[in-house]
Amino acid sequence: MEAKTLALSLFLLFLFSSTISGSPPTRKVRPREPCKRLVFFFHDIIYNGKNSKNATAAIVGAPEWGNKTILAGQNHFGDLVVFDDPITLDNNLHSTPVGRAQGIYVYDKKEIFTAWLAFSFVFNSTEHKGSINFAGADPLMNKTRDISVIGGTGDFFMARGIATLMTDAFEGEVYFRLRVDIKLYECW
Ligand SMILES: *[C@@H]1O[C@H](CO)[C@@H](O)[C@H](O)[C@H]1NC(C)=O
Ligand SMILES: *[C@@H]1O[C@H](CO)[C@@H](O)[C@H](O)[C@H]1NC(C)=O
Ligand SMILES: *[C@@H]1O[C@H](CO)[C@@H](O)[C@H](O)[C@H]1NC(C)=O
Ligand SMILES: *[C@@H]1O[C@H](CO)[C@@H](O)[C@H](O)[C@H]1NC(C)=O
Repeated sequence: MEAKTLALSLFLLFLFSSTISGSPPTRKVRPREPCKRLVFFFHDIIYNGKNSKNATAAIVGAPEWGNKTILAGQNHFGDLVVFDDPITLDNNLHSTPVGRAQGIYVYDKKEIFTAWLAFSFVFNSTEHKGSINFAGADPLMNKTRDISVIGGTGDFFMARGIATLMTDAFEGEVYFRLRVDIKLYECW
């Protein structure tokens, strides 16, 4: 009986002391270093009524006051563009493409120049097979902007992370080039 009581009190003492003297519950520290990093460029040539041969993007929706040939006024608000752009490893439009950037962007604010992006990088080369999916707001006037890497397939199965976009070139309303710095924080 004595021994049992002693054991019980020691046990309770242990429970009590470990509760109060133990360090506060440690937060799960997530690794902040990317497990994979990839840099690509993609090139967008928007149809402007004259370049149907070279265009890789087309306005498919425009507000009532605009049209599908020329991006609308008021920071292109309401224009919806579909693209199938070549991806290259350097900033040269004529470099051999390693994949295609395919998706849409929609200009979504009258007051400033900003867009919402939803697209995939589709790879089918000896280097990479599979896709990486992106989505997010793109405040174009900022030097760099982060969008989400929301998933992937093939070599990029379950990929998740952040892609930092930078406008590497902007020529008239017809051509732009984005540098995409992909940092994956989940790799399989
Ligand atoms: C299409 O691209 C070629 C090669 O870059 C260029 O020489 C030509 O002028 C372009 N055509 C149009 C209509 O933009
Ligand atoms: C489209 O709109 C632009 C001005 O935003 C105008 O200059 C052009 O003529 C229009 N094109 C057509 C085909 O309506
Ligand atoms: C990928 O490339 C191979 C070889 O060129 C081709 O046979 C295959 O159909 C391509 N797959 C896709 C999804 O484009
Ligand atoms: C864009 O730049 C503005 C002004 O420098 C800043 O206030 C804003 O937070 C930036 N937005 C993003 C998404 O980086």
